[in-house]
Amino acid sequence: MSIAAKVSTRTKKPHLEIQGGFQLSGDLKVSGAKNSALVLITAALLTEEQVCLSNVPELTDIKAITDVLGTMGVKSSYQGDVLQLQADQICHSDPPYELVNGLRASFFCIGPLLGRLGKAKIPLPGGCRIGARPVVEHIRGLKALGALVNVEHGVVTASLRGTSGRLKAAPIVFDCPSVGATETVLMAAVLAEGTSTIENAAQEPEVQDLANMLNAMGARVRGAGGPIITIEGVETLHGCNYSVIPDRIEAGTFLIAAAITRSKIRVSPVIPDHLNAVLQKLRDAGCSIEINKQAITITPGEIHGVDITTQPFPGFPTDLQAPFMALLVTAKGTSVVTEKIYENRMQHVAEMQRMGASIRLQGNTAVIEGVPQLSAAPVRGGDLRAAAAMVLASLAAKGTSLVEGLDHLDRGYAFLETKLNGAGSHIIRYQN
Ligand code: EPZ
Repeated sequence: MSIAAKVSTRTKKPHLEIQGGFQLSGDLKVSGAKNSALVLITAALLTEEQVCLSNVPELTDIKAITDVLGTMGVKSSYQGDVLQLQADQICHSDPPYELVNGLRASFFCIGPLLGRLGKAKIPLPGGCRIGARPVVEHIRGLKALGALVNVEHGVVTASLRGTSGRLKAAPIVFDCPSVGATETVLMAAVLAEGTSTIENAAQEPEVQDLANMLNAMGARVRGAGGPIITIEGVETLHGCNYSVIPDRIEAGTFLIAAAITRSKIRVSPVIPDHLNAVLQKLRDAGCSIEINKQAITITPGEIHGVDITTQPFPGFPTDLQAPFMALLVTAKGTSVVTEKIYENRMQHVAEMQRMGASIRLQGNTAVIEGVPQLSAAPVRGGDLRAAAAMVLASLAAKGTSLVEGLDHLDRGYAFLETKLNGAGSHIIRYQN
């Protein structure tokens, strides 16, 4: 990652030094969606022809997943925001544990490898700081499609039954609308024999983006983005050129940065329908929102508290719960934030309290009393979105904050401080 950085003088750990209190202005540019690009990259395993993805964000997770595919023989080259992939000589379907273990998204390989090679051996993705992150639904779906799936010693081994050369279509009903499980089953079913259906499918835009790319490769997927998806299996898929959708979570983060610093900012490109729940809450909190095709201009008024409950799409996204809380801690009045998706996604509360936030945490519900101003402090982001939330809080805090947790932040935000400094913030990266 080519970011100019200074040698640290205050702490040995890589961190951002943020001078709070500056207004922002102008435009903030949104990169391609991390949570789409990761799964689209694994979909390249479904064909031996070249796949060319554009608008691919420069993130550590993107390099990590490309490295995982490289260990299986997938060729790749990354120029600007264009990633070219070719899986014409997959040498095996058993990526090394040390690479896969660091990146949950590696599990996305299991569906395409089953469809292409009829077998796959992928380490079971562990939990992470925000929750257990089980893959029960993914495995249920693969078994429904006729795969033999065995989980032993932390490794998931999947193969086709008997001598059949293809998975068999099936009706699948998820217990919960899991994004990853929906994407895994989609990528396994596109090469299956017959027509499969997924009920209680995840409706996130990233699922729709994957379905659109698969259809560009010759698949026949209908209904993605809704609760019921139909997949008519085909024998082979061909290559494609495809552009990743803009990152709705980065866009939401930028809108919240504008609201927190009480600045008028234009955020683009963004697909407004991917952010309706967030836009509504920003309006309810006192911001005016102007939409012009793929650009959103936000003008904050007096910010007051609102209640947030995270839900599967199209509800309020869990990935913006922590960033939005950074706004609510200096809003006028009381807010209640309830995290319904993950069991442990409130670690940022303690860090915000260090900056003077008044928050009472009861389980996964935070009751926030807005304070006039936060005070700068050394803080740390314990997961990707908590780290982003601490950057946002520091933009408004009085004084200079140090934000650690860049290893998390760089997984999901490309050149965050460069973009924010371009709009008037004062952030220096110290990278030892
Ligand atoms: C995707 O994770 C995103 N990651 C997450 O973004 C996002 O928070 C999440 O979807 C929800 O929107 C990527 O796309 C790479 P899930 P995923 O399966 O697919 C439970 C970020 O910050 N569940 O929809 O793992 C699970 O425990 C990351 O960018 C089961 O109970 O999410 C969780 O509580 C974080 N059983 C909930 O569903 C299962 O078999 C949502 O999980 C599967 C999931």
